Amino acid sequence: MYALNGRKALITGAAQGIGFTIAERLAQEGCDVALMDLDGEATAAAAGRIADSTGKRAFATSGDVSDPRSADDFIASLTGQLGGLDILVNNAGVVKLSQLEENTMADFRKTFGVNVEGMMHCVQRSLPALRASNHGRIVSIASWMGKQGVENYGAYCASKAAIISLTQTLALEVAKDGITVNAVCPGLIVDTRMREESDAERKERGMPLAHERAHTIPLGRVGYPADDAKVAAFLASDEADYMTGQAINITGGLWMQ
Ligand SMILES: NC(=O)c1ccc[n+]([C@@H]2O[C@H](COP(=O)([O-])OP(=O)(O)OC[C@H]3O[C@@H](n4cnc5c(N)ncnc54)[C@H](O)[C@@H]3O)[C@@H](O)[C@H]2O)c1
Repeated sequence: MYALNGRKALITGAAQGIGFTIAERLAQEGCDVALMDLDGEATAAAAGRIADSTGKRAFATSGDVSDPRSADDFIASLTGQLGGLDILVNNAGVVKLSQLEENTMADFRKTFGVNVEGMMHCVQRSLPALRASNHGRIVSIASWMGKQGVENYGAYCASKAAIISLTQTLALEVAKDGITVNAVCPGLIVDTRMREESDAERKERGMPLAHERAHTIPLGRVGYPADDAKVAAFLASDEADYMTGQAINITGGLWMQ
């Protein structure tokens, strides 16, 4: 356990999947949590499940990380409800498969709008509250695909590479404020909507699906949201207070650089 009692965490894209599991894990570690996602009802239900199972306060609101006005609103309202902010988790993300030659600019911009601009909107608006904390932490969910180009994932790979780069620069810029900034780079994680959607697109293209790729992973299995949540909780904790600007692979050995 990471002894996060009394800390306040805001997690984007938290209605389901990796974001939900990180929110749940942070609450189990003692945090009050604030969840945001596109669908307000689903987010409220997710927050309710966390409050019931952990006894911690769990707030919820709808919002769109890619929209700066929405970010103004949900960061202000959730930070207000929490009564401050110690931990920001930038998790909201989208993927759409396409060869770069065929990538529509609308899809390309959407990928960058959510994955990269979304992170920027949340970071910029959260920094004043994080500076006021003695334990400011930013954890962003990148991907091993941010470290390597992958066919059909060009826009997604570039957006995740941008998250890793922004993580490094931001780590330098806010180190003086005692805020650490790190990224996690999940590999092949199942039991999420993105994985379902990605597998549906892969099936159409005759590409192998997640469970058919398990044998390519050195540790012999696909990953689960809990594999990412425990690393995110560690990075959010005092145990990681001498780590900043890092992009940690959680891939079962699929990617090592
Ligand atoms: N599943 C994987 O294998 C995998 C691997 C590497 C990285 N990731 C990353 O992990 C993160 C979570 O993905 P997941 O697999 O849990 O997928 P998911 O689809 O289950 O969760 C993503 C959440 O983000 C939300 N979201 C999307 N656009 C948003 C917006 N504009 N504003 C607010 N919320 C928005 C979605 O509604 C959804 O609830 C993403 O950043 C993804 O790129 C996933």
